Amino acid sequence: MKDQTNLLRARSEKAHQTASLQSKSEITVCDSREYRFPPIKLSKLKWFTEKDLPPEVIVLDFERLLKNQDLDLLAKTLTGEKILVLKNHPITEQELEDIVNVTRQFFDQKEEDRRKMIHPRLSRLIRGFSGFNSEHMVSIDYDAKRDGIADPILKYSWGPEDNLYPNEKFKQIWDNYFKKCYFISTTLIEKIIDILDLKKDPQWKKMFNGDGTVRLACYPEVENVTSDRFKLHLDMGFITLNNQLPSENGFTCLQVEHDAKLISVPAVKNLLVVNYNEHLGLFTNNRVKPVVHQVISPPREEVKDSERSSVLFFLHPHDDLITKNPKESGLKQCYSEGSQTKFSDFMRRWLDLI
Ligand SMILES: [Fe+2]
Repeated sequence: MKDQTNLLRARSEKAHQTASLQSKSEITVCDSREYRFPPIKLSKLKWFTEKDLPPEVIVLDFERLLKNQDLDLLAKTLTGEKILVLKNHPITEQELEDIVNVTRQFFDQKEEDRRKMIHPRLSRLIRGFSGFNSEHMVSIDYDAKRDGIADPILKYSWGPEDNLYPNEKFKQIWDNYFKKCYFISTTLIEKIIDILDLKKDPQWKKMFNGDGTVRLACYPEVENVTSDRFKLHLDMGFITLNNQLPSENGFTCLQVEHDAKLISVPAVKNLLVVNYNEHLGLFTNNRVKPVVHQVISPPREEVKDSERSSVLFFLHPHDDLITKNPKESGLKQCYSEGSQTKFSDFMRRWLDLI
């Protein structure tokens, strides 16, 4: 993890400033200072139930996976036959409520105070606070066309070290959440190695000891958004764990591609939606099918009470893992010339692009 952090630290501050200036001049979606972020009680939210999940989703019991049970079912998610959701995992409802509320308390202050938690050296995508219009992730699609719209999202990100935090309680809550996600996602990697017999690959050990990022993303009600919250895309690295909260009005914005259809996956309490990501697909020659997904914006008549938060975790492989370049990618500029790319080189370019 140290190597990864050093690499990310090497990202030039100049590039960071340029990205920030671009986003300010290109568009103003809205000013997040008009929004308030009171604490929420998870028990009061309008959760969906397991019965509301579409048939394309399979809910696996993490405790059973730990005992090497249901691996045949897990295998069905690797091929894309099913969309993976985990229950009975070690993140408690209280831990989710704690991370959401300690972060909402931080968001619920003036922008000038929030900006004190912008990391002086590292990308806002991996550490600290990132305000409205700071990145352009929404506009990354498979054609890599930027439509000039910046993200109408408030984010906070946390890694294994070099974090910024407003107080000790905040640090304790985020550190704990990070460790749990790291355990869950690396356990999944262990099971995938067994199912696909990946120890034959000389690089298999580089599937571990990579970096990870927890990110809380909050999408307030935004009236004039002309874009989806995130267009169809693959996440980077190996695995994403998505602990999503429902919006008050019941609008479900997460959609996963399955058999060329888009399937809405609503927020069910204590369930984690799992995505397999671009580099896991590349490393396994597509034996693990990466999960294409998007986050849509509510239509105008459903904007009211559509605020929604998601606590995400992204697991990355070791910096030195080398994968073949994809035949097609909207992020071609992030891959090295030739036929293969080291993960650290990809990430450095990707963070500069966003
Ligand atoms: Fe995503």
